[in-house]
Amino acid sequence: MANVHVLDHPLIQHKLAILRSKNTSVKEFRELIGEISGLMCYEATRNLPTKEVEVATPVAVAKCRRLAGKKLAIIPILRAGLGMVDAMVELIPSAKIGHIGLYRDPETHLPVEYYCKLPEDIENRQVFVVDPMLATGGSAVAAIDFLKQHGCKNITMMNIIGCPEGVAAVQKAHPDVELYLAACDEKLNEHAYIVPGLGDAGDRIFGTK
Ligand code: PRP
Ligand code: URA
Repeated sequence: MANVHVLDHPLIQHKLAILRSKNTSVKEFRELIGEISGLMCYEATRNLPTKEVEVATPVAVAKCRRLAGKKLAIIPILRAGLGMVDAMVELIPSAKIGHIGLYRDPETHLPVEYYCKLPEDIENRQVFVVDPMLATGGSAVAAIDFLKQHGCKNITMMNIIGCPEGVAAVQKAHPDVELYLAACDEKLNEHAYIVPGLGDAGDRIFGTK
């Protein structure tokens, strides 16, 4: 799967093990989501284009590299995606942020849109969509559909935990999208929850259950 990257870095895997535990507190869960997101962001931005620049150090002129090409946007899928934003912005402080609000209908498991606000120039930006969970893939596919309708061409999807069903759905609908995961789990259960997963990411980030 050329466009699917499962990040097996030891730090990511260690933090993910703590994140999954049902005994991890809301405070620690939130912190870990941020830490893992920062590490994933480092990998997912590895191929950003750079250009050579000259910088006068106190000693001499150094040939350096700075980011070039399109400006970036970070698009969290509400709610749980919000937990990934701060860590990304710490690494990419000039990124603009858009929000796509989707929730899964508890009966059909299909995504329902309830909010959307994107940067005005979104079509000119390289976009990173963030959401901790990729289950059926319905939310990810709907968010990417929506971004493409708004002219986005360069889209990367970042999920902390995915599963084969979600990966297949994104690949089928959007084969051009690069997908970064910290883990690809075994399967979905009858409630379309990822097994073994970590439970409901939104509830665990915000302490709502
Ligand atoms: C969760 C998760 C994803 C979605 C994944 O959000 O954060 O957005 O489910 O499932 P899917 O791949 O089957 O679409 P949820 O709908 O529970 O909303 P929340 O973030 O507000 O809790
Ligand atoms: N959403 C979650 O938060 N967790 C799952 O396992 C599936 C969807």
